[in-house]
Amino acid sequence: MKVNHHALELEQNYLFSEVAKRIRAFQAAHPGRELLKLSIGDVTRPLAKIITDEMKAAAEDMSHAETFHGYGAEQGEPFLREAIAGYYQKRGIAVDPADVFISDGAKCDLGNLCDLFDADNTVLLPDPVYPVYYDTNIMAGRRVIFARGTKENGFLPMPDADVHADIIYLCSPNNPTGAVYTKEQLAAWFAYAKENGALILFDAAYEAYIRDPELPHSIFEIDGAERCAIEINSLSKTAGFTGVRCGWTVVPRTLQFDGASLHDMWFRRMATKYNGTAYIIQRAAAKVFTEEGLRAVHGDIDYYMENARIIKAALTKAGIHSVGGGNAPYVWMECPGGADSWTYFDYLLNSFGIAGTPGAGFGAAGQGWLRFSSFGTRETVTKAAEYLAALI
Ligand code: MLT
Repeated sequence: MKVNHHALELEQNYLFSEVAKRIRAFQAAHPGRELLKLSIGDVTRPLAKIITDEMKAAAEDMSHAETFHGYGAEQGEPFLREAIAGYYQKRGIAVDPADVFISDGAKCDLGNLCDLFDADNTVLLPDPVYPVYYDTNIMAGRRVIFARGTKENGFLPMPDADVHADIIYLCSPNNPTGAVYTKEQLAAWFAYAKENGALILFDAAYEAYIRDPELPHSIFEIDGAERCAIEINSLSKTAGFTGVRCGWTVVPRTLQFDGASLHDMWFRRMATKYNGTAYIIQRAAAKVFTEEGLRAVHGDIDYYMENARIIKAALTKAGIHSVGGGNAPYVWMECPGGADSWTYFDYLLNSFGIAGTPGAGFGAAGQGWLRFSSFGTRETVTKAAEYLAALI
């Protein structure tokens, strides 16, 4: 038996596992000291009542022969795919419910999509970037190249016409930097993809956090993108579903590459390796897209965005440069005095009990930066902000 040697090329620990390990070590060494957790982007607000009521009603349906559900529709229940298409429609974006696939989350879809692509492709990733894009392509043995985010380009790297790529990952609002591409910038990426015959994988998991009405929420706001892009999204951050699990991917039937329909390939892949998101969860997800559902989840989004504002204001007060926070739930801070990311992470943890996520864990271009998540409780964020505002 031979193992996949590409899988051995990964760093020993997944970034958030390494952060969790250091937090556990801190807690073991300082029992009783308060931890101010602004590290992994995990939500803390409970689910809206309207959502849990729907889960209960769906669970009740499962207990009666007339309303019981076994295996669901392969692509996801039509009522949820229609609700998602309706969500896009509110922004004037035409997405056909027939192109929507329901899943258990964006991370899984991003990794699983790798099944559709040959190992002999060049993958272009922004750096810094959500580690899942890199790790899953390394495991599959693909070449990975980077478009470098810097303080100067506001961590919004643009394509280089002299560099060829076959698959391009974009995440906007960005994890980890919180930077958001404008429509013109996305149009430039679209033009580059077309020129290269490349596919864009657009991760829109944080779109619900955009405040600026000029900023695009979807790659499908760019004319023609349905011929070169797949969009991945999830309710984890939009509706607090990190522990519930429900996401979706839009694979337009207009996507043709190498003589094949990516939509048909994805359908075949999902039918073979996935048996669907639980009916109860799909019912809850559909409730999110109703008027009352959206009102409820936007209340929580407002709460997290106020947290982001508090963190950012504290850094500004301390004279520390930061990016993000205004249209995203992440604040990306430059470590003072040129400190490296892991050293500064350890300093904040051991001095104040504040846990961020080291920027270097998101790629070489993240070195010297640290990410704060705004998904904590107001109490945690306020306490952390007091320390941050006094940093020198
Ligand atoms: C993060 O902290 O970057 C996210 O929570 C990770 C994820 O969504 O998988």
